[in-house]
Amino acid sequence: MAQFSGKTVLVTGGTSGIGLATAQRFAAEGAHVVVTGRTQGRVDAAVAAIGDGATGVAADVTDSAALDRLAGVIGAHARGLDVIFANAGGGEFATLEDETPEHLSDTFNRNVGGTVFTVQKMLPLLNEGASIILAGSTAATRGVPAFGAYAASKAAIRSLSRTWAAELVGRRIRVNTVVPGPVETPGLKGLAPSGQEQDLLDGEAATVPMGRIGRPDEIASAVLFLASDQSSFMTGSEIYVDGGSGQV
Ligand SMILES: NC(=O)c1ccc[n+]([C@@H]2O[C@H](COP(=O)([O-])OP(=O)(O)OC[C@H]3O[C@@H](n4cnc5c(N)ncnc54)[C@H](OP(=O)(O)O)[C@@H]3O)[C@@H](O)[C@H]2O)c1
Repeated sequence: MAQFSGKTVLVTGGTSGIGLATAQRFAAEGAHVVVTGRTQGRVDAAVAAIGDGATGVAADVTDSAALDRLAGVIGAHARGLDVIFANAGGGEFATLEDETPEHLSDTFNRNVGGTVFTVQKMLPLLNEGASIILAGSTAATRGVPAFGAYAASKAAIRSLSRTWAAELVGRRIRVNTVVPGPVETPGLKGLAPSGQEQDLLDGEAATVPMGRIGRPDEIASAVLFLASDQSSFMTGSEIYVDGGSGQV
C-alpha cells in the first residue's frame, strides 16, 4: 500500500522548486495534497502537474485572512491534517550596509511570520500523531555575505521547531526541520542577475564537498522520511540535506 494513503498533507509554497517536488512525491505515495502559492494561476498549474489527489489554494502566508480560508478548505474535507510542510519562503541579497527596515521586515514576515501563522491556524485541524516539517537552510549556520536577513530568519525557524516540538508532544505531534544546502530551483536561480543564473549555480556547487548542488527531489526524500513513521523517534530535530556543505 502507498505510504501516505488516506493522509492529508499541506505543502505551502507547493507551486515551485522544493515544495512542488515534495507535493508530487506525497501524491505518488497516496496522500491527498493541498498546495499553496500566492497566485491562483500558479496554484492551478501545480495542481495539474501533481495530478490526482491534489487541491490548490491561493494563500499568501503573510495574509491572515488567506490562512483562515486555507484552514476552512482543509477543514471541509473533515479528515483533519496529518502533515504540514511549511516550505513557503525565500530571500534576496542585501549586505548589512544596504539593509533596510522594509527588506528586513518583509523577510521575517514571509519566512518567520508566515511559518508561525500557517502552523498556528492549522493547529485545530492536526490529527494526533501528525508531523510538522519546517524549511530551514544551511545559510542559518554559515556566514554567507549579503544573506544576513534570510539567514537570521532561518535560524529563527530552527529555534521555533524546538519550542513547538515541546509544546505539541502531548498531542503526539512531531516537529522537525529539513535543512537544505543549495538546491537547483527557480528560487535559487532568481537570486542571480538575469543571464548569470548558471554562474550562480556553478559558484554554489563549488562550495559543496560533493561538488554539485542538490535536486528538489533529494529534499523531498528527507521530508517524506520526517513525515512518516520511519522517523517516529525524532522531534525537535533537524536533517541536513546539503552535500556536506554545512558539515565537512
Ligand atoms: N533552493 C535552495 O537552495 C534552498 C536552500 C535552503 C532552503 N531553501 C528553502 O526552501 C524553501 C523553498 O525554496 P525553493 O528554492 O524551492 O523556492 P522557489 O522555487 O522560489 O519556491 C518558493 C515557493 O514558495 C512560495 N511562496 C513564496 N512566498 C510566499 C508567500 N508569501 N506566500 C505563499 N507562498 C509563497 C512560492 O509560490 P508563488 O511564487 O507561486 O507564490 C513557491 O511555491 C524556502 O523556504 C527556501 O528558503 C531553499
